[in-house]
Amino acid sequence: MPRGNFITLEGGEGAGKTTQLSLLCDAFAKVGVEALATREPGGAKGAEQIRALLVSGAVARWDPLTEALLHFAARRDHLVQTVWPALARGAWVVSDRFADSTLAYQGYGQGVDHADLERLYQVAVGDFAPDLTLVLDLPVESGLARAKDRAESSSRYERMDKAMHERLRQGFLAIAQKQPRRCVVIDASAPADVVHAAIRRAVSERLGVALDG
Ligand SMILES: Nc1ncnc2c1ncn2[C@@H]1O[C@H](COP(=O)(O)OP(=O)(O)OP(=O)(O)O)[C@@H](O)[C@H]1O
Ligand SMILES: [Mg+2]
Repeated sequence: MPRGNFITLEGGEGAGKTTQLSLLCDAFAKVGVEALATREPGGAKGAEQIRALLVSGAVARWDPLTEALLHFAARRDHLVQTVWPALARGAWVVSDRFADSTLAYQGYGQGVDHADLERLYQVAVGDFAPDLTLVLDLPVESGLARAKDRAESSSRYERMDKAMHERLRQGFLAIAQKQPRRCVVIDASAPADVVHAAIRRAVSERLGVALDG
């Protein structure tokens, strides 16, 4: 049975993931591709309840491995309830964050053993992986400044220290370098329409769908 493509948007706080997700889904709608916009942690009823535990409260409330387990529990619920059924009916799915965020935040950022995270991935997700991952990259200061200007109150992750945000920026870049067939690094410091054009190009080149510009 043919299935849709799974695209993930990754990057640090305020990189523009949510903005670009919405622009990309609009571009898909214009060319008649059904694309479901979703997010992690969350994207399903139970996963959203786990999200509430992750994004609020004291920065140190979870030890890093516990936090990774919560992310993978939420991720499996999201896949089972939302992502896999949508792909199976032929829709495309675009997710605001996915497993690279766990490797970047809990692995590169908070020191959880990368092999442990890989094992958790195997158990919770198996052989499934995104068809394309867009890594939005920009300097930490710019991202945090953008996130601060946003209307929503600051999340637990934004309140982590600057060194942590530097580690996770480098983590995302390292992940993209290790998996160049799946990942494309996008310069997210440009204006939103320029970033969107770069994303459209990457989607067209990697997945062979022409998006009108
Ligand atoms: N290319 C851009 N240039 C300038 N400002 C931008 C750009 N893209 C997004 N913004 C603005 O920066 C803020 C953060 O963007 P957005 O919420 O899309 O980022 P995010 O990566 O989803 O952040 P978070 O990780 O905190 O969810 C928003 O106010 C948005 O309007
Ligand atoms: Mg966002």
